[in-house]
Amino acid sequence: MNYRHAFHAGNSADVVKHCLMIALVRALQLKPGALTLIDTHAGCGLYDLAGDAAQRTGEAAQGVQRAFADPSPLLDDYRAAVRAVNAGPEPRLYPGSPRILSQLLRPQDGLILNEKHPEDAAALRAAMRGTPAAVHTRDAHELWLAMLPTRTPRGVVVVDPPYEQPDERARITATLAAAQRKWAHGVTMIWYPLKDQATHARWKAQLARVGIPKFLVVDHWLYDAEQPGQYNGAGLFIINPPHAFTQPLPTLLAALRMALAPEGHRGTLAAEWLAAP
Ligand SMILES: C[S@@+](CC[C@H](N)C(=O)[O-])C[C@H]1O[C@@H](n2cnc3c(N)ncnc32)[C@H](O)[C@@H]1O
Repeated sequence: MNYRHAFHAGNSADVVKHCLMIALVRALQLKPGALTLIDTHAGCGLYDLAGDAAQRTGEAAQGVQRAFADPSPLLDDYRAAVRAVNAGPEPRLYPGSPRILSQLLRPQDGLILNEKHPEDAAALRAAMRGTPAAVHTRDAHELWLAMLPTRTPRGVVVVDPPYEQPDERARITATLAAAQRKWAHGVTMIWYPLKDQATHARWKAQLARVGIPKFLVVDHWLYDAEQPGQYNGAGLFIINPPHAFTQPLPTLLAALRMALAPEGHRGTLAAEWLAAP
């Protein structure tokens, strides 16, 4: 386990992931019934953007800092979530998915976090002190299945692996298929990096064969043409998204694409059904 999210916190992928995560949870919270929120790869919970790791890559400059410079009110909820962990107006600290999810909790909701790396798990426990979150240090795939079906009738599983292992995509496909058998109506959000069109198309074809209905794909290609051999963007699979999330989604994606487009590129950020509802 070499991946450390501290090097990447607040980058463009985090902005899209965290904006859509907020929109998804808020859409589900339009109904009063309790939600169980599960974050299988939680990371540290809170990141210092002025720290050594973040400064070494400078990735936040293309992500959260652009989101803060952007005037669109559609990014207000996201900016408020970042401001909530900062004393001043500038984003010096960055909230990971656990801190953002904990901000969204209503009294009836529960939050289950999981992080296997011992140092990051210790940081996570410290970052979540004083919140009602339960912190686990298990293997993410094992925890994902063990927690299903959730204790409350409705819930969201956020799956955000580092993709260090060559079989990560195949493992996700297998765990998602097993999760679907235990919890067919559950909402799941899976993050992935986009390296090249061919790898992504192959994975989507494998997932389509699993036959999960109501399967949304949100791909963010940063550049106008694929940049060979390098990071080209990121995306999210969202299973069972509610209508209150999908209906306004195109306008949110348009705002995010504009806010995050690299110099000289438009890029694309769009949602399509892999399997229609
Ligand atoms: C991309 S980061 C998570 C970022 C976080 N979700 C956020 O948005 O703020 C992925 C995390 O998964 C952890 N991880 C990697 N493999 C894991 C596994 N098999 N089980 C649990 N955690 C794992 C890594 O240590 C890393 O902290």
